[in-house]
Amino acid sequence: MTRVAVIGAGSIGLAIAWRAAHAGAAVVVHDPAPGSGASRVAAGMIAPATETHYGEQALAPLMAASADAWPAFAADLEQATGLDVGFCDVPTLVVGLDDADRAEVEHQADLYRATDRTVDTLTPRAARQTEPLLSHRVRGGLLAPGDRAVDPRVVHKALIIAAEHAGVQFHTAPVTDTTALDADQTVIAGGCGSAALEPWRLSVRPVRGVVLRLRAEGQAVPRTTVRGFVKGHPIYIVTRSDGEIVIGATSDERGFDTRTATAGAVHDLLRHAIELVPEIAEYHLDEVSVGFRPATPDNLPLLGRLDARTIAATGHYRNGIALIPATATAVAALIAGEDPDALRPFDPHRFTPGRTVKESHQ
Ligand code: GLY
Repeated sequence: MTRVAVIGAGSIGLAIAWRAAHAGAAVVVHDPAPGSGASRVAAGMIAPATETHYGEQALAPLMAASADAWPAFAADLEQATGLDVGFCDVPTLVVGLDDADRAEVEHQADLYRATDRTVDTLTPRAARQTEPLLSHRVRGGLLAPGDRAVDPRVVHKALIIAAEHAGVQFHTAPVTDTTALDADQTVIAGGCGSAALEPWRLSVRPVRGVVLRLRAEGQAVPRTTVRGFVKGHPIYIVTRSDGEIVIGATSDERGFDTRTATAGAVHDLLRHAIELVPEIAEYHLDEVSVGFRPATPDNLPLLGRLDARTIAATGHYRNGIALIPATATAVAALIAGEDPDALRPFDPHRFTPGRTVKESHQ
Protein backbone atom coordinates (compact mmCIF):
# COMPACT_ATOMS: atom_id res chain seq x y z
CA MET A 1 0.00 0.00 0.00
CA THR A 2 1.40 3.42 -0.97
CA ARG A 3 2.05 5.60 2.07
CA VAL A 4 1.16 9.23 1.35
CA ALA A 5 1.98 12.17 3.63
CA VAL A 6 0.11 15.41 3.01
CA ILE A 7 1.50 18.55 4.62
CA GLY A 8 -1.33 20.97 5.22
CA ALA A 9 -4.93 20.38 6.33
CA GLY A 10 -6.45 23.27 4.43
CA SER A 11 -9.12 22.30 1.93
CA ILE A 12 -6.60 21.56 -0.83
CA GLY A 13 -4.59 19.19 1.39
CA LEU A 14 -7.72 17.48 2.70
CA ALA A 15 -9.18 16.94 -0.76
CA ILE A 16 -5.89 15.40 -1.90
CA ALA A 17 -5.84 13.17 1.19
CA TRP A 18 -9.48 12.11 0.77
CA ARG A 19 -8.94 11.26 -2.88
CA ALA A 20 -5.69 9.36 -2.19
CA ALA A 21 -7.29 7.35 0.61
CA HIS A 22 -10.13 6.41 -1.74
CA ALA A 23 -7.56 5.24 -4.28
CA GLY A 24 -6.21 2.82 -1.65
CA ALA A 25 -3.28 4.75 -0.13
CA ALA A 26 -2.46 4.92 3.58
CA VAL A 27 -2.65 8.68 4.15
CA VAL A 28 -1.38 10.87 6.98
CA VAL A 29 -2.14 14.61 7.02
CA HIS A 30 0.27 16.81 8.99
CA ASP A 31 -0.96 20.15 10.34
CA PRO A 32 -0.75 21.68 13.82
CA ALA A 33 -3.98 23.65 13.27
CA PRO A 34 -6.20 22.23 10.50
CA GLY A 35 -8.29 24.85 8.74
CA SER A 36 -6.63 27.87 10.37
CA GLY A 37 -5.33 29.25 7.06
CA ALA A 38 -6.88 30.69 3.92
CA SER A 39 -9.75 28.12 3.89
CA ARG A 40 -11.23 29.83 6.98
CA VAL A 41 -11.26 33.32 5.47
CA ALA A 42 -12.03 32.65 1.78
CA ALA A 43 -15.34 33.82 0.33
CA GLY A 44 -15.64 30.66 -1.78
CA MET A 45 -16.07 32.02 -5.29
CA ILE A 46 -15.70 29.47 -8.10
CA ALA A 47 -15.09 32.02 -10.80
CA PRO A 48 -13.33 30.77 -13.95
CA ALA A 49 -14.35 33.92 -15.84
CA THR A 50 -14.35 36.74 -13.31
CA GLU A 51 -11.20 35.67 -11.45
CA THR A 52 -9.17 35.88 -14.67
CA HIS A 53 -6.41 38.46 -14.45
CA TYR A 54 -3.98 39.83 -17.02
CA GLY A 55 -0.77 37.80 -17.05
CA GLU A 56 -2.49 34.76 -15.51
CA GLN A 57 -4.29 33.43 -18.60
CA ALA A 58 -2.38 30.12 -18.37
CA LEU A 59 -4.61 29.29 -15.40
CA ALA A 60 -7.81 29.36 -17.48
CA PRO A 61 -7.94 25.65 -18.50
CA LEU A 62 -7.35 24.46 -14.92
CA MET A 63 -9.94 26.91 -13.56
CA ALA A 64 -12.44 25.74 -16.19
CA ALA A 65 -11.81 22.05 -15.45
CA SER A 66 -12.18 22.68 -11.73
CA ALA A 67 -15.36 24.74 -12.10
CA ASP A 68 -16.85 21.98 -14.25
CA ALA A 69 -15.87 19.38 -11.63
CA TRP A 70 -17.30 21.31 -8.67
CA PRO A 71 -20.97 20.18 -8.89
CA ALA A 72 -20.03 16.48 -8.77
CA PHE A 73 -17.33 17.12 -6.14
CA ALA A 74 -19.85 18.95 -3.92
CA ALA A 75 -22.39 16.15 -4.41
CA ASP A 76 -19.79 13.49 -3.45
CA LEU A 77 -18.80 15.47 -0.38
CA GLU A 78 -22.42 15.91 0.66
CA GLN A 79 -23.09 12.23 0.16
CA ALA A 80 -20.00 11.27 2.19
CA THR A 81 -20.83 13.57 5.11
CA GLY A 82 -24.50 14.56 5.06
CA LEU A 83 -23.43 18.23 5.17
CA ASP A 84 -24.77 20.88 2.78
CA VAL A 85 -21.57 22.53 1.49
CA GLY A 86 -23.50 25.54 0.22
CA PHE A 87 -22.81 25.02 -3.48
CA CYS A 88 -24.67 27.96 -4.91
CA ASP A 89 -25.73 27.81 -8.53
CA VAL A 90 -26.39 31.54 -8.93
CA PRO A 91 -24.62 33.70 -11.51
CA THR A 92 -22.06 36.42 -10.93
CA LEU A 93 -22.67 40.04 -11.91
CA VAL A 94 -19.75 42.40 -12.46
CA VAL A 95 -20.77 46.05 -12.34
CA GLY A 96 -19.17 49.47 -12.45
CA LEU A 97 -20.32 52.40 -10.33
CA ASP A 98 -19.20 55.32 -12.47
CA ASP A 99 -18.16 55.65 -16.11
CA ALA A 100 -14.52 54.88 -15.38
CA ASP A 101 -15.58 51.77 -13.43
CA ARG A 102 -17.84 50.69 -16.30
CA ALA A 103 -14.91 51.16 -18.71
CA GLU A 104 -12.86 48.89 -16.42
CA VAL A 105 -15.59 46.25 -16.48
CA GLU A 106 -15.72 46.42 -20.29
CA HIS A 107 -11.95 46.06 -20.47
CA GLN A 108 -12.11 43.02 -18.15
CA ALA A 109 -14.82 41.55 -20.38
CA ASP A 110 -12.32 40.99 -23.20
CA LEU A 111 -10.15 39.02 -20.81
CA TYR A 112 -13.07 37.04 -19.39
CA ARG A 113 -14.25 36.15 -22.90
CA ALA A 114 -10.80 34.83 -23.76
CA THR A 115 -11.48 32.05 -21.22
CA ASP A 116 -14.29 30.75 -23.47
CA ARG A 117 -16.75 31.09 -20.59
CA THR A 118 -20.05 32.76 -21.35
CA VAL A 119 -20.10 36.44 -20.39
CA ASP A 120 -23.03 38.71 -21.34
CA THR A 121 -22.94 42.52 -21.42
CA LEU A 122 -25.78 44.17 -19.48
CA THR A 123 -27.25 47.65 -19.65
CA PRO A 124 -27.78 49.33 -16.25
CA ARG A 125 -31.48 48.44 -16.46
CA ALA A 126 -30.76 44.80 -17.34
CA ALA A 127 -28.24 44.62 -14.49
CA ARG A 128 -30.89 45.87 -12.03
CA GLN A 129 -33.45 43.44 -13.42
CA THR A 130 -30.99 40.62 -12.76
CA GLU A 131 -30.12 41.98 -9.31
CA PRO A 132 -32.90 44.24 -7.97
CA LEU A 133 -30.81 45.32 -4.95
CA LEU A 134 -28.24 47.09 -7.13
CA SER A 135 -27.92 50.83 -6.68
CA HIS A 136 -29.57 52.98 -9.35
CA ARG A 137 -26.16 54.63 -9.78
CA VAL A 138 -24.65 51.45 -11.27
CA ARG A 139 -23.58 52.08 -14.87
CA GLY A 140 -23.99 48.60 -16.30
CA GLY A 141 -21.90 45.51 -16.30
CA LEU A 142 -21.60 41.85 -17.18
CA LEU A 143 -23.23 38.59 -16.29
CA ALA A 144 -21.07 35.48 -15.88
CA PRO A 145 -23.64 32.68 -15.52
CA GLY A 146 -21.01 29.98 -14.85
CA ASP A 147 -19.25 31.72 -11.94
CA ARG A 148 -20.68 30.27 -8.76
CA ALA A 149 -19.80 29.91 -5.07
CA VAL A 150 -19.56 27.45 -2.21
CA ASP A 151 -19.26 27.83 1.58
CA PRO A 152 -15.55 27.25 2.30
CA ARG A 153 -15.97 26.69 6.04
CA VAL A 154 -18.53 23.93 5.54
CA VAL A 155 -16.42 22.49 2.71
CA HIS A 156 -13.46 22.30 5.11
CA LYS A 157 -15.52 20.69 7.86
CA ALA A 158 -16.95 18.18 5.39
CA LEU A 159 -13.50 17.35 4.01
CA ILE A 160 -12.23 16.59 7.54
CA ILE A 161 -15.17 14.24 8.11
CA ALA A 162 -14.89 12.62 4.66
CA ALA A 163 -11.13 12.14 5.07
CA GLU A 164 -11.58 10.58 8.52
CA HIS A 165 -14.27 8.24 7.17
CA ALA A 166 -11.87 7.23 4.39
CA GLY A 167 -9.22 6.29 6.97
CA VAL A 168 -6.96 9.36 6.77
CA GLN A 169 -4.86 9.89 9.93
CA PHE A 170 -4.12 13.37 11.32
CA HIS A 171 -0.83 14.37 13.00
CA THR A 172 -0.50 17.76 14.70
CA ALA A 173 3.27 17.83 15.31
CA PRO A 174 4.78 20.59 13.14
CA VAL A 175 6.78 19.41 10.10
CA THR A 176 9.77 21.53 9.11
CA ASP A 177 11.54 19.17 6.69
CA THR A 178 9.76 16.94 4.16
CA THR A 179 12.70 14.50 4.15
CA ALA A 180 11.96 13.67 7.81
CA LEU A 181 8.64 12.01 6.87
CA ASP A 182 8.45 8.26 6.46
CA ALA A 183 6.27 8.14 3.32
CA ASP A 184 6.49 6.90 -0.26
CA GLN A 185 4.95 10.15 -1.53
CA THR A 186 4.86 13.49 0.23
CA VAL A 187 2.51 16.24 -0.96
CA ILE A 188 3.29 19.83 0.04
CA ALA A 189 -0.09 21.56 0.39
CA GLY A 190 0.86 23.98 3.11
CA GLY A 191 -0.29 27.25 1.51
CA CYS A 192 1.82 30.15 2.77
CA GLY A 193 3.58 27.79 5.21
CA SER A 194 5.09 25.92 2.25
CA ALA A 195 7.82 28.59 1.99
CA ALA A 196 9.37 27.53 5.29
CA LEU A 197 9.52 23.79 4.51
CA GLU A 198 12.98 22.30 4.00
CA PRO A 199 14.59 21.39 1.72
CA TRP A 200 12.35 23.01 -0.94
CA ARG A 201 11.51 26.40 0.56
CA LEU A 202 9.00 26.97 -2.24
CA SER A 203 8.43 30.47 -3.62
CA VAL A 204 5.15 31.25 -1.87
CA ARG A 205 4.44 34.63 -0.30
CA PRO A 206 1.46 35.77 1.77
CA VAL A 207 -0.87 38.36 0.21
CA ARG A 208 -2.96 39.71 3.05
CA GLY A 209 -6.71 40.13 2.67
CA VAL A 210 -9.43 41.54 4.92
CA VAL A 211 -12.84 39.89 4.56
CA LEU A 212 -16.12 40.82 6.29
CA ARG A 213 -18.99 38.52 7.18
CA LEU A 214 -22.43 40.06 7.64
CA ARG A 215 -25.85 38.62 8.32
CA ALA A 216 -29.25 39.60 7.01
CA GLU A 217 -32.00 39.26 9.58
CA GLY A 218 -35.16 39.59 7.55
CA GLN A 219 -33.78 42.11 5.04
CA ALA A 220 -33.69 41.35 1.31
CA VAL A 221 -30.39 39.83 0.14
CA PRO A 222 -28.71 39.83 -3.29
CA ARG A 223 -29.74 36.91 -5.45
CA THR A 224 -26.49 36.93 -7.41
CA THR A 225 -22.84 37.19 -6.48
CA VAL A 226 -22.03 40.85 -7.07
CA ARG A 227 -18.54 41.92 -8.06
CA GLY A 228 -17.54 45.31 -9.24
CA PHE A 229 -15.39 48.37 -9.25
CA VAL A 230 -16.17 51.40 -7.14
CA LYS A 231 -14.01 54.37 -8.12
CA GLY A 232 -11.36 51.92 -9.22
CA HIS A 233 -11.55 49.67 -6.15
CA PRO A 234 -12.48 46.01 -6.74
CA ILE A 235 -15.09 44.53 -4.42
CA TYR A 236 -17.13 41.33 -4.18
CA ILE A 237 -20.28 40.42 -2.31
CA VAL A 238 -21.15 36.72 -1.95
CA THR A 239 -24.53 35.74 -0.50
CA ARG A 240 -25.21 32.35 1.05
CA SER A 241 -28.58 30.67 1.33
CA ASP A 242 -28.40 30.87 5.16
CA GLY A 243 -28.32 34.69 5.07
CA GLU A 244 -24.55 35.16 5.44
CA ILE A 245 -23.06 37.84 3.20
CA VAL A 246 -19.30 37.85 2.62
CA ILE A 247 -17.64 41.07 1.47
CA GLY A 248 -14.06 41.15 0.27
CA ALA A 249 -11.32 41.90 0.00
CA THR A 250 -8.28 44.03 0.54
CA SER A 251 -5.04 42.87 -1.05
CA ASP A 252 -1.84 43.90 0.69
CA GLU A 253 1.77 42.91 0.15
CA ARG A 254 3.06 43.25 3.68
CA GLY A 255 4.05 39.75 4.70
CA PHE A 256 2.52 37.92 7.66
CA ASP A 257 0.98 40.96 9.32
CA THR A 258 -1.50 39.13 11.56
CA ARG A 259 -2.81 42.26 13.26
CA THR A 260 -6.53 42.82 13.03
CA ALA A 261 -7.88 44.92 10.15
CA THR A 262 -7.68 48.68 10.44
CA ALA A 263 -10.90 50.63 10.85
CA GLY A 264 -10.08 52.31 7.53
CA ALA A 265 -9.93 48.98 5.66
CA VAL A 266 -13.29 47.89 7.11
CA HIS A 267 -14.79 51.29 6.37
CA ASP A 268 -13.62 51.21 2.75
CA LEU A 269 -14.93 47.68 2.13
CA LEU A 270 -18.32 48.55 3.62
CA ARG A 271 -18.53 51.88 1.81
CA HIS A 272 -17.73 50.32 -1.56
CA ALA A 273 -20.15 47.42 -1.00
CA ILE A 274 -22.94 49.77 0.12
CA GLU A 275 -22.38 51.98 -2.94
CA LEU A 276 -23.20 48.97 -5.12
CA VAL A 277 -25.89 47.39 -2.89
CA PRO A 278 -27.34 49.99 -0.47
CA GLU A 279 -29.33 47.36 1.46
CA ILE A 280 -26.02 46.13 2.94
CA ALA A 281 -26.14 49.08 5.39
CA GLU A 282 -29.01 47.25 7.15
CA TYR A 283 -27.18 43.97 7.69
CA HIS A 284 -25.39 43.00 10.91
CA LEU A 285 -21.59 42.87 10.88
CA ASP A 286 -20.67 39.48 12.36
CA GLU A 287 -16.97 39.13 11.67
CA VAL A 288 -13.85 40.85 10.38
CA SER A 289 -11.13 38.39 9.39
CA VAL A 290 -7.63 38.65 8.04
CA GLY A 291 -6.24 35.91 5.80
CA PHE A 292 -3.20 35.25 3.65
CA ARG A 293 -3.45 34.16 0.02
CA PRO A 294 -0.50 31.93 -0.91
CA ALA A 295 0.91 33.64 -4.02
CA THR A 296 3.88 32.77 -6.23
CA PRO A 297 6.10 35.10 -8.30
CA ASP A 298 3.83 34.66 -11.37
CA ASN A 299 0.63 34.17 -9.33
CA LEU A 300 0.12 30.67 -10.81
CA PRO A 301 0.09 27.62 -8.52
CA LEU A 302 2.99 25.27 -7.91
CA LEU A 303 1.43 21.99 -9.00
CA GLY A 304 3.61 19.10 -10.07
CA ARG A 305 6.43 16.80 -9.14
CA LEU A 306 9.46 18.14 -7.23
CA ASP A 307 11.29 14.79 -7.13
CA ALA A 308 10.46 11.09 -7.21
CA ARG A 309 8.97 11.27 -3.69
CA THR A 310 7.65 14.82 -3.45
CA ILE A 311 4.76 16.67 -5.10
CA ALA A 312 3.93 20.37 -4.79
CA ALA A 313 0.25 21.43 -4.59
CA THR A 314 0.38 24.94 -3.24
CA GLY A 315 0.48 28.62 -4.19
CA HIS A 316 -3.17 28.78 -5.32
CA TYR A 317 -3.30 32.51 -4.51
CA ARG A 318 -6.87 33.85 -5.00
CA ASN A 319 -8.26 30.55 -6.26
CA GLY A 320 -7.70 27.91 -3.59
CA ILE A 321 -11.37 27.03 -3.16
CA ALA A 322 -12.09 27.15 -6.90
CA LEU A 323 -9.17 24.82 -7.64
CA ILE A 324 -9.88 22.13 -5.02
CA PRO A 325 -11.31 19.44 -7.37
CA ALA A 326 -8.78 19.97 -10.18
CA THR A 327 -5.86 19.96 -7.74
CA ALA A 328 -7.02 16.74 -6.08
CA THR A 329 -7.40 15.11 -9.50
CA ALA A 330 -3.98 16.32 -10.65
CA VAL A 331 -2.25 15.05 -7.52
CA ALA A 332 -4.01 11.67 -7.81
CA ALA A 333 -2.59 11.39 -11.34
CA LEU A 334 0.91 12.35 -10.15
CA ILE A 335 0.77 9.80 -7.33
CA ALA A 336 -0.30 7.18 -9.89
CA GLY A 337 2.89 7.91 -11.85
CA GLU A 338 1.30 10.01 -14.59
CA ASP A 339 2.80 13.24 -15.89
CA PRO A 340 -0.18 15.29 -17.15
CA ASP A 341 0.69 17.78 -19.91
CA ALA A 342 -1.95 20.14 -18.52
CA LEU A 343 0.30 20.78 -15.51
CA ARG A 344 3.28 22.18 -17.53
CA PRO A 345 2.51 25.86 -16.72
CA PHE A 346 2.55 25.02 -13.02
CA ASP A 347 5.93 23.22 -12.91
CA PRO A 348 7.06 23.78 -9.31
CA HIS A 349 10.69 24.06 -10.45
CA ARG A 350 10.06 27.11 -12.60
CA PHE A 351 11.56 29.47 -10.02
CA THR A 352 14.58 27.30 -9.23
CA PRO A 353 17.44 28.42 -11.52
CA GLY A 354 18.93 25.55 -13.52
CA ARG A 355 16.39 22.94 -12.33
CA THR A 356 13.82 21.14 -14.44
CA VAL A 357 11.34 18.47 -13.47
CA LYS A 358 13.18 15.95 -15.68
CA GLU A 359 16.50 16.49 -13.89
CA SER A 360 14.87 16.21 -10.49
CA HIS A 361 13.64 12.70 -11.32
CA GLN A 362 17.20 11.51 -11.86
N1 GLY B 1 -10.70 35.10 -4.60
C1 GLY B 1 -10.99 36.24 -3.83
C2 GLY B 1 -9.87 36.83 -3.12
O1 GLY B 1 -8.74 36.35 -3.22
O2 GLY B 1 -10.06 37.80 -2.42
